[in-house]
Amino acid sequence: MSEPPIQPTSPTPRTSTPAPRPSVPKPDSITRRRTPQEELEVLIRARYPIIYVVSWEEERVERCLRTIADSRNKKLLVWTVTQGIVKSGAEPQRSKSTSGNTTDPIAALDAVIDQVEPAIYLFKDFHLFTSGDRCNMQVIRRLRDVAHHVRDTYKSIVIVSPVMNIASDLAKDITVVEFGLPGPEDFNQLLLRIVEDVKDNPQIRINLDGEARERLLNAARGLTLKEAENVFAKTLVLDGKLDADDISVVFSEKQQIIKKSGLLEYCDTPEEINQVAGLKNLKEWLTKRTIAFSDRAAKYGLPSPKGVLLLGVQGCGKSLCAKAIAGLWKLPLLRFDLGRMFSSLVGSSEENIRRAIVTAESIAPAILWIDEIDKALAGSSNGGGSDGGTASRVFGTLLTWLSEKTSPVFVIATANDISNLPPELLRKGRLDEIFFVDLPLEEERQEIFKIHLRRRGRRSSEFNLLELSKLSDGFSGAEIEEAITSALFDSFSRQVPLDTDIIKASLAETVPLSKTMHEEINRLRNWAAGRARPASGVVARVMEDPRRKIEL
Ligand SMILES: Nc1ncnc2c1ncn2[C@@H]1O[C@H](COP(=O)(O)OP(=O)(O)O)[C@@H](O)[C@H]1O
Ligand SMILES: [Mg+2]
Repeated sequence: MSEPPIQPTSPTPRTSTPAPRPSVPKPDSITRRRTPQEELEVLIRARYPIIYVVSWEEERVERCLRTIADSRNKKLLVWTVTQGIVKSGAEPQRSKSTSGNTTDPIAALDAVIDQVEPAIYLFKDFHLFTSGDRCNMQVIRRLRDVAHHVRDTYKSIVIVSPVMNIASDLAKDITVVEFGLPGPEDFNQLLLRIVEDVKDNPQIRINLDGEARERLLNAARGLTLKEAENVFAKTLVLDGKLDADDISVVFSEKQQIIKKSGLLEYCDTPEEINQVAGLKNLKEWLTKRTIAFSDRAAKYGLPSPKGVLLLGVQGCGKSLCAKAIAGLWKLPLLRFDLGRMFSSLVGSSEENIRRAIVTAESIAPAILWIDEIDKALAGSSNGGGSDGGTASRVFGTLLTWLSEKTSPVFVIATANDISNLPPELLRKGRLDEIFFVDLPLEEERQEIFKIHLRRRGRRSSEFNLLELSKLSDGFSGAEIEEAITSALFDSFSRQVPLDTDIIKASLAETVPLSKTMHEEINRLRNWAAGRARPASGVVARVMEDPRRKIEL
């Protein structure tokens, strides 16, 4: 995959306008990162004809535009598919009768041309007509005409959409602004408003000193303004007060929201690192970094680790390790379902991944676990041409964040295959290390037997571990575990104690994946040699071809 065509530059817009020459010193107002509102105002004043705002928060965008419209003496008109063009803030029922026939997108665009007064038009629902199933070529054509027309007027069109979905014909006429999620200052404004609203109610107490307030505002990061408002309201209803204790309510509410978004999932079953057999190098590397996120480490001058990629054979403990790191470092583990994001269920956009990142950062220090990253990418490129662009943009967002991130969010990505992995991910600087997780060697298999027998309440000294490990050559950890479980079923049904022979029989019935997939595994080993660090501390070896070579 090549470098993604569009990089996330929030809240700086992506335009085709050439950047100013670097030699000219830039005033502070240009170099400083502008807020989305400032950004919108600059674009409107510079008369960019069509601005496409990516945000879930229509209300927040509308409020922001209203402020701009008021300060510039313009009208703010809002178009929706059900009401047509109405004045911002108009009551839904009443406005219907006065809207004429502007519910049709082309009629609405005509109305924009006819209108002469300075105005900002906020188009909601409009993205449905410019791409996807309902994409309408006439609407796109008309929009381009209008773009041309409004350039010389005091009118601007703002399209707000939760997803970045622009037909390629429109790419040059549209400027994209990523609105991003609200920051602590937005939440602070919200809090001030709530305090103002409830100040006459004697039953409600708000008790937030400087530090508690800051923590509460930080805890809300990752929520939309509406969601934060709901959470604050909920805490007030629950106990009539808003104080430091409510930070935990915000966190638990965030778990709900994380679940609903369908992208991130809290894994509250961390494993202990001593439940992972073998993988000595990897475990040492991780153990050394146990206190890496502490203040003490930062003061010492240690950078916080960025992340690792665990690449290797299926069933050899990669996912297990991700959970074990959370247990070892005692940090929350967030599983990021990249595959699901590419499915139509959640809607694909960089905004989704940005939200996942902000959420992870808001509970940092935390571990962000991207399991089977290769599968997600393979799935996304099979989904048709248009999806390929989304996948690379989403991936671009992730990569940019990885190389720029300063927040203590540690990323663990796992992959079974390299063919779908973009080379950028493997480049130095993005992640700290790539570990190759191979099939377990003999001593490692002994350890795996020991761990899994103990887990099931058996004394490992009663089994011939050496014999079992010799017989399980080529087995993955998962397959060894499976053999033990099936032996347990055997012994249970025969009502005899589990012993080495029963496990041996169960091993004999299993054909390990490495037999059928030895070519893939070899390919992986060859790739990993020299590029990745062996997780087990033993140099990866090339598996011998079990087939006899015959010269004819
Ligand atoms: N090195 C290992 N030590 C202990 N158990 C292992 C090991 N490798 C695999 N297993 C067992 O196999 C199961 C599946 O492994 P998993 O971590 O999901 O593999 P993958 O590498 O495909 O992510 C684990 O939950 C664990 O019970
Ligand atoms: Mg796995």
